[in-house]
Amino acid sequence: MGQILIFGASSTVALACAKIWARRGDEFILVARTRERLTPKIQGLRNSVLAEYFQDLGDCGENQALVDEIFLKYPRIDKVFIAHGYLGGQAESENTWQEAEKQICVNYMSVVSLLHPCADHLSARGKGQIAVLTSVAGQRGRPRNYTYGSAKGGLSIFLQGLRSRLWPRIAVTDLVLGPVDTPMTKDHRKNFSFATAESAALKIVSAVDRRVSRAFVPGYWRWVCLLVRLMPEAVFQRLKFLRD
Ligand SMILES: NC(=O)c1ccc[n+]([C@@H]2O[C@H](COP(=O)([O-])OP(=O)(O)OC[C@H]3O[C@@H](n4cnc5c(N)ncnc54)[C@H](OP(=O)(O)O)[C@@H]3O)[C@@H](O)[C@H]2O)c1
Repeated sequence: MGQILIFGASSTVALACAKIWARRGDEFILVARTRERLTPKIQGLRNSVLAEYFQDLGDCGENQALVDEIFLKYPRIDKVFIAHGYLGGQAESENTWQEAEKQICVNYMSVVSLLHPCADHLSARGKGQIAVLTSVAGQRGRPRNYTYGSAKGGLSIFLQGLRSRLWPRIAVTDLVLGPVDTPMTKDHRKNFSFATAESAALKIVSAVDRRVSRAFVPGYWRWVCLLVRLMPEAVFQRLKFLRD
């Protein structure tokens, strides 16, 4: 039983994980963008929720103060789970800087602004774990989502550095998700590659339990991504189904 600080607590994947953790007796400090979005989704978790905070995490400059306030009040937090994210539209990000900035800000900068103070607080305590949701879109840039993907890919690199900085007392787990059927992908045509939030959550919780450095969710994405990363550019550009 422990205390888990969850950012992006109204996320479908985060809530599916929280349901599993709650059954095991864990307690939560939840951070979501708005009360309206969070309250209806956490009715079943009520007894496990110690506190709720509301903040637009895209206001990166405000995030350190929020983290400091939370750790001051809940110094026994032993896991930080960062789940918020914004897919947005690739074409829009190419046409307007505001959209590109939002994708980079929410998926990369806001997470960095949370990770530094969280890492400092856990370091001061000398133990703990940080787990972050990234994406297979961050493994190689493709026309359909390379603005979002580059932010997630940059985040994975950041997590590598943070992991080495905090090693071995604080584990940093990068959870690289394949497509999941959630509101984020509501407009996407569904195929065999889409996992449910519940099945993704089982794998995420297992990876967090094992304190692994990086887990692909589901696991077969490890091999797909290895192939996609290693493929020479000349071959990659000829394989339209992969390239696009
Ligand atoms: N679904 C997929 O196929 C997929 C694949 C790879 C990676 N991921 C990653 O998995 C994570 C969870 O996504 P999901 O599938 O659970 O989608 P989701 O249900 O749509 O959740 C997205 C969450 O991000 C929050 N959020 C977005 N912008 C925010 C901001 N500026 N400040 C605070 N919160 C913000 C949303 O808050 P509101 O409720 O207030 O909108 C929502 O809770 C994300 O990081 C996503 O990038 C998802």
